[in-house]
Amino acid sequence: MMTDASSTIFQDKIDQDIRIEPKDWMPDAYRKTLIRQISQHAHSEIVGMLPEANWITRAPSLRRKATLIAKVQDEAGHGLYLYSAAETLGISREEMIDQLHSGKAKYSSIFNYPTLTWADMGAIGWLVDGAAIMNQVPLCRASYGPYARAMVRICKEESFHQRQGFEILLTLSRGSEAQRRMCQDAIDRWWWPSVMMFGPNDDASPHTAQSMQWKIKRFTNDELRQRFVDICAEQVKLLGMTIPDDQLRWNEERQHYDFGPIDWEEFRNVINGNGPCNKERLAARVQAHEDGAWVREAALAHAEKKIQYGKTA
Ligand SMILES: [Fe+2]
Ligand SMILES: [Fe+2]
Repeated sequence: MMTDASSTIFQDKIDQDIRIEPKDWMPDAYRKTLIRQISQHAHSEIVGMLPEANWITRAPSLRRKATLIAKVQDEAGHGLYLYSAAETLGISREEMIDQLHSGKAKYSSIFNYPTLTWADMGAIGWLVDGAAIMNQVPLCRASYGPYARAMVRICKEESFHQRQGFEILLTLSRGSEAQRRMCQDAIDRWWWPSVMMFGPNDDASPHTAQSMQWKIKRFTNDELRQRFVDICAEQVKLLGMTIPDDQLRWNEERQHYDFGPIDWEEFRNVINGNGPCNKERLAARVQAHEDGAWVREAALAHAEKKIQYGKTA
């Protein structure tokens, strides 16, 4: 039950930057917002494994293969920490998985684009993991304890992902003419979807104000997007490549890069299930879940046997 006293205590904690923990009283809307955000985040990590897993067998060297396997495995770990964090709010893992598989829950629209060449592994690391870091570093200070703590390790790993991606592109950018073309083509295809990862513009993002008041969010979508553009506009010079935006230029007055308009029609289309790979991604997840049923059953049977024989190890 909500009482005036408990809601005052809650808001005081938020204002003083004291973390909210699972057993603390919290407003229903705060709980719901977190469940939605954390579970969408978890789904994105898990679905995000798919476009890159496609390239594990085709990575050009043993070093690249080992790195890519490690990265994809990290993403699985991120999904698991986040599902666990969401579970502390009173939703079960089964329910979340079910929402993903039935199409009720969303995940980041970026993962509905295809990975056509090896250079895409570089562009995803540099741009997609780069955008993820920009979004996620402030979440290490989110007001909900389990979410904030999960983000600390996730961010460390994301930063490694970002650097390995940039290094792939740097290598290609110093390679043959064909490799340079492949590098530019991957940047061209991944740039705008990455810029869209920050979500709608602030004036079209009705939940932002509330989330900021609850200190779940610390910066608005447009603030984070601007930071991302500013950083990438400089980094792309090291590659000797270009960003596919003819309106991208330094604005001395604003001390930021100006950039061209975002195609929100495309964003909405992909979010609503009509991106190039939505059906494929979801089908792959459902298949993996069904194929893994025997593992879950076996693990459960094993755990029950241990209890039965009184072993604790
Ligand atoms: Fe991740
Ligand atoms: Fe990552």
